[in-house]
Amino acid sequence: MTTLHIDSSINGENSASRAISRSIVDRLSPGGSGDRIVYRDLAAEPLPHLTLEAFADTSVLDEFLEADTVVIGAPMYNFTLPSQLKAWIDRIAIAGKTFRYTENGPEGLAGGKKVVVALARGGFYGESSPAAGLEHLETYLRGVFNFIGIEPEFVAADGLAIGPEQREAAIGAALGDALRLAA
Ligand SMILES: Cc1cc2nc3c(=O)[nH]c(=O)nc-3n(C[C@H](O)[C@H](O)[C@H](O)COP(=O)(O)O)c2cc1C
Repeated sequence: MTTLHIDSSINGENSASRAISRSIVDRLSPGGSGDRIVYRDLAAEPLPHLTLEAFADTSVLDEFLEADTVVIGAPMYNFTLPSQLKAWIDRIAIAGKTFRYTENGPEGLAGGKKVVVALARGGFYGESSPAAGLEHLETYLRGVFNFIGIEPEFVAADGLAIGPEQREAAIGAALGDALRLAA
């Protein structure tokens, strides 16, 4: 089984999404003989913005297609995903490869993968929160993965900018949620 582990936070060792994504990978791919982990750090080695020429290089798409499980560390920046992660999405949402348009509308072609996203957000964006309408991270990632045929799972640490106690509690709860994920 191949697990693709993606991180995108610029915060290095202080990153909550990195700590949670690492814990999810440890849970889902504990290192048995058949386990292979491919790691891509989009902050350390950013993909360039998409260009027409970039479509010729399918290495990022192939890496995604070869993975059985994909674990993504996704911090919220300016109400959405980091542009580093968007550049990766631009490489994997490819007509004819991961989705296609049919007479009945769009059809996802990448089904059968397990995708788990570790979210880290500074504020709160629940349905009853005043900022709910600004949540374009989880909603975007759910939408784009649904579009290519995948129902992603989310583990979230929220309110990380509220204060140290909330940060510690939210990260602790998310790490606990990661432990309960089914392999
Ligand atoms: C550039 C930048 C933009 C951010 N924008 C938002 C935002 O729009 N909403 C929010 O709730 N938190 C925002 N935050 C806070 C981060 O989501 C929070 O610090 C989170 O922990 C980042 O994930 P990380 O710990 O994995 O780096 C922002 C942080 C940075 C560095």
